[in-house]
Amino acid sequence: MKTPPADQTRRRLLAAAATLGVAPWLLSACAQTTGASSVVADKPASATRRRLGPFDVYPIGLGVQWHPSGPQGVVDLYSSSTSRQGGVALIRRAVDLGVTLFDTAEVYGPFMSEELLGEALQGSLRDRVVVSTKFGFDVDPVTGQRRGGVNSRPEHIRQAVEAQLRRLRTDRIDLLYQHRVDPNVPIEDVAGTIKDLVRQGKVLHYGLSEPGLQTVRRAHREHPVAVIQNEYSMLYRGPEAQVLPLCEELGIGFVPWSPLGMGFLAGTVNAASRFEKQDFRASVPRFAPDVLPANMALADLVKTWASRKNVTPAQLSLAWLTAQKPWIVPIPGTTNPAHLEENVAAASISFSVAELKELNAAVAAIPIQGERLSPAVLSATGVEAPPKR
Ligand SMILES: NC(=O)c1ccc[n+]([C@@H]2O[C@H](COP(=O)([O-])OP(=O)(O)OC[C@H]3O[C@@H](n4cnc5c(N)ncnc54)[C@H](OP(=O)(O)O)[C@@H]3O)[C@@H](O)[C@H]2O)c1
Repeated sequence: MKTPPADQTRRRLLAAAATLGVAPWLLSACAQTTGASSVVADKPASATRRRLGPFDVYPIGLGVQWHPSGPQGVVDLYSSSTSRQGGVALIRRAVDLGVTLFDTAEVYGPFMSEELLGEALQGSLRDRVVVSTKFGFDVDPVTGQRRGGVNSRPEHIRQAVEAQLRRLRTDRIDLLYQHRVDPNVPIEDVAGTIKDLVRQGKVLHYGLSEPGLQTVRRAHREHPVAVIQNEYSMLYRGPEAQVLPLCEELGIGFVPWSPLGMGFLAGTVNAASRFEKQDFRASVPRFAPDVLPANMALADLVKTWASRKNVTPAQLSLAWLTAQKPWIVPIPGTTNPAHLEENVAAASISFSVAELKELNAAVAAIPIQGERLSPAVLSATGVEAPPKR
């Protein structure tokens, strides 16, 4: 049978990708677009779609990281809350507004966030969006109890995915992340297990969250990594040194978590803010009373730039992220429909090259005091998987 030209092109791209050691979708994207710029400054054309590894998505996603609060309520990590029904309605509203990337995890709840996402998307909405979720913490598959630490053993991954498919009411997970690298499991075993799940059609692509750099390269050799999800915002610019260049080199998309700095960049924190014990920020050194007044210089800068651009601080912060690279898609979390609309509208904000240079320099001139996470949480980031013997 004669091979159609499109198929021939695809096969040539796959072969070239294998030779060059880059992701197939990167070459395919290059084949479709010419003259692509590495920044989107002065290019509001990206307002409705952008490339995230193999995905074509709206430039702003939605984080669904909720935990139970009473019998009918949900609460995020920062004491923002709504009802279960409110959460489901918010997800559906996001789809109406054009959002296509939804982010959740087995451990959010545990289980509850996936259940609500599945409920919200069941039926015709499912095929309009990219569902991303994560495995990797040691969660009891029956009780949902966190047993402490991580678990990426192949049999645990397979078991987790079966349950995730049920909770998400779907036959495939578009993007499955390893939530944290397991220091006891070679990444080749993790990527190999996911490769099997891809062959079975249960998972379409995979990603890594807060991985060590060598682990990314090793995973990518086993099966192409689609997306890296790390913390990134004006409050924490760590990925700029090595992770973003690695993504660029390998054709991996990037999803910044806590893109609003846990609410700080949206203007919801002041120098006198004190966090209750159950608010995650109570354990985060950069929000501690002794450094918060100094760190407010960044929130003030964001407010100044927001009024200069006639947008809100949250919008300015999200637009700053999408302006850094055309393959970055932030996933702000919210429980509030008005905030959702505000965040979604940030996709149409752009910066001139001069504005971006000025803003980047101003952000760089404010040293943030205090670590981004508590020592225990921080120690699970940037971990390298053990060698495959
Ligand atoms: N891979 C990982 O390890 C990891 C870690 C953390 C998070 N994540 C993912 O990243 C997502 C987002 O991160 P995040 O929730 O930690 O932090 P975030 O998006 O930086 O901040 C969320 C907070 O900002 C507030 N907010 C949102 N939009 C606002 C607006 N327009 N104006 C004022 N306040 C606003 C929200 O309160 P309201 O509800 O009142 O809007 C919420 O409390 C999560 O949902 C999760 O999917 C992943």
